[in-house]
Amino acid sequence: MTHPLLNIHKLRIAFRTHTKQTDALKGISLHINSDERVALVGESGSGKSVTARAVLGLLQQQRGIEIGGRIEFEGQDVALLKDSERRQMRGTKISMIFQDPVSSLNPVFRIETEFLEVLRRTNPKVTLPAAREQAEEMLRKVSIDDPHRVLRSFPFQLSGGMNQRVMIALALINAPSLLIADEPGTALDVTVQDQTLRLMRRLVEDHRAAVLLISHNLGVVREFSDRIYVIYRGRIVEEGPTGAVFADPIHPYTRALLAAVPRITKSGIPKLVDDISQFTEPCEIHPARA
Ligand SMILES: Nc1ncnc2c1ncn2[C@@H]1O[C@H](COP(=O)(O)OP(=O)(O)O)[C@@H](O)[C@H]1O
Ligand SMILES: [Mg+2]
Repeated sequence: MTHPLLNIHKLRIAFRTHTKQTDALKGISLHINSDERVALVGESGSGKSVTARAVLGLLQQQRGIEIGGRIEFEGQDVALLKDSERRQMRGTKISMIFQDPVSSLNPVFRIETEFLEVLRRTNPKVTLPAAREQAEEMLRKVSIDDPHRVLRSFPFQLSGGMNQRVMIALALINAPSLLIADEPGTALDVTVQDQTLRLMRRLVEDHRAAVLLISHNLGVVREFSDRIYVIYRGRIVEEGPTGAVFADPIHPYTRALLAAVPRITKSGIPKLVDDISQFTEPCEIHPARA
């Protein structure tokens, strides 16, 4: 029998302290097939990152947490894996891209050290020269023209966009079957975010990886995903093929999310002022605060 690559079944997660209980996930079900690009969309605090952390098996160790339901990856119940098996699963079969690339790279490591560490998860005997060679090839795929320099740099010596590309290269170098991208690039500017998604799209096609793209913005996932799940306060309120959800949203929350999508026309974002020299003090567009 064939099974989905990832199958989340009625997942419930509650965080408990002695003063309060937060029901972060109230029984969500979601699946991703091999090679499929799926988006999980919802406003801040709706339970997106908790879902991602649960899939990676990062919540099990936490105190005061209650987990119900089941997460299966490649047909195996993730909760039944040993810690060492779960660690092996992360970074080889499932990898993750976070919102802020700089804080997820170690500031005291050169980029080449990050690549060496990641490559060692699948091949403990890999040498530094071999790792460099593989890393350079992967960096070229994320459109970095001078991989040699980048490998010898520390994260702070690179721009945010460059670090984001490094993160994508690191996430894909071990050819994972599932990539989880949690609001990739939202800590960066909109252009970089857009480039990030394009790069991710091209690379996951090349590498035949499935993707769970997490976003608070329906507009961002439109181009990228085959299917969408809309999450609201810990519940999936709508799901379906991307085209169908956009054409005919059923749930009022999805409609509200759609209404919030900024419309960018072919000619770009409408300009308020053509010539920057038109700005005067105080600003004509935004009157000075009294
Ligand atoms: N470690 C934690 N302890 C307690 N509450 C948490 C924890 N992590 C997340 N939450 C709560 O769970 C809910 C969902 O959080 P999260 O998944 O991070 O939202 P988002 O959709 O913005 O990623 C929020 O109410 C958040 O405050
Ligand atoms: Mg989040």
